[in-house]
Amino acid sequence: MKANHSKPHSPANNKPAPKAGIMGIAPYVGGKSKAKAGVRVVKLSSNETPLGASPLAVKAFTDSAAHLHRYPDGTALALREALAEVHKLPVERIVCGAGSDELIAFLVNGYTGEGDEVLYSEYGFLMYKIYTQAAGATPVTAPEKNLRTDVDAILAKVTPRTKIVFIANPNNPTGSYITKSEMKRLHDGLPANIILAIDGAYSEYATDVADYSDGRELVESSDNTIILRTFSKIHGLSALRLGWAYGPAHIIDVINRIRGPFNVSAPAIAAGAAAIRDTKFSEATRIFNKQWLEWLSKELIALGLKVHPSIANFILVEFPEGKHNAANANAFMMDKGYIPREVANYGLPKCLRISIGLEEDNKAVASILADFLKT
Ligand SMILES: Cc1ncc(COP(=O)(O)O)c(C=O)c1O
Repeated sequence: MKANHSKPHSPANNKPAPKAGIMGIAPYVGGKSKAKAGVRVVKLSSNETPLGASPLAVKAFTDSAAHLHRYPDGTALALREALAEVHKLPVERIVCGAGSDELIAFLVNGYTGEGDEVLYSEYGFLMYKIYTQAAGATPVTAPEKNLRTDVDAILAKVTPRTKIVFIANPNNPTGSYITKSEMKRLHDGLPANIILAIDGAYSEYATDVADYSDGRELVESSDNTIILRTFSKIHGLSALRLGWAYGPAHIIDVINRIRGPFNVSAPAIAAGAAAIRDTKFSEATRIFNKQWLEWLSKELIALGLKVHPSIANFILVEFPEGKHNAANANAFMMDKGYIPREVANYGLPKCLRISIGLEEDNKAVASILADFLKT
């Protein structure tokens, strides 16, 4: 008789099983970076800046190569000091993460579990859902009106199980925003035990919009608001994975308890501190973006396409039904080496999201889409 080597409690299929709900997560699909072989590729699918990072940030990154054998400062103090100085914030209420993605995950992991709900708007950033599912909590969405966060719809979905409300402002992929007073109204309508997480990944692009605020006044006047920011967009450091949050001491404390001891790398700390201090560079990037955002929006509207108003560094373009639909427009652009973002997975199959590129790329997008509409 053969010896039975199986362990006493091995399940029949003998494979480790993930916890409940994990296999129900649809993996995040990032912007494509390859188009047709042999053509110059212009990636407009991940809302990266076409202007790159500040030369001072690149130098700080390069200089950090001499110290790669050392662990980073686990508190990222040099970076938090730079953020505190430039944004005039208390350093002890800032925490950094490997991308703002990681900070979203920390919030969800720190405050939610089975039976809890995380609320966001219909076309909110996809990672809210993924991290919520990973934590075993339940994602809940509130319908938007005209592709804009609807404060009343969000408030109507609040239940005793709601733990966090995420609002990306401006939102990705719509480019729309809610005003400072709408955000205050949302905050005023939330019970004080629910976290309002204002995700300002694109905030820096909107600093000149009169009725927009990144929400810091709510952090200052309440105990349940946190703002999340990133170095991946206007600062051009996507590859380094760097984000930060400013919030009440008790929420920062929770994040500090659950984050990895060295969650932000030394090159990211060095480059981030230099990038945030180079306000001339980020301001020039903002002005460049604004000019080409307006230009591209007008050009595409003149072609007869619907362009949803955006205050970020991308536009959401709606295509008609039939042969000039979004899927065909995507294929046509890809064929020329220009990569937009398909947003059917956001529930927007009629739309493509297109990041603002260099001058020649924006001009090329307008002329490619003009050619497409003539097909
Ligand atoms: C609304 C929003 N939040 C957060 C992020 C994550 O940024 P990162 O993890 O690169 O800091 C993005 C990236 O596209 C975003 O669009």
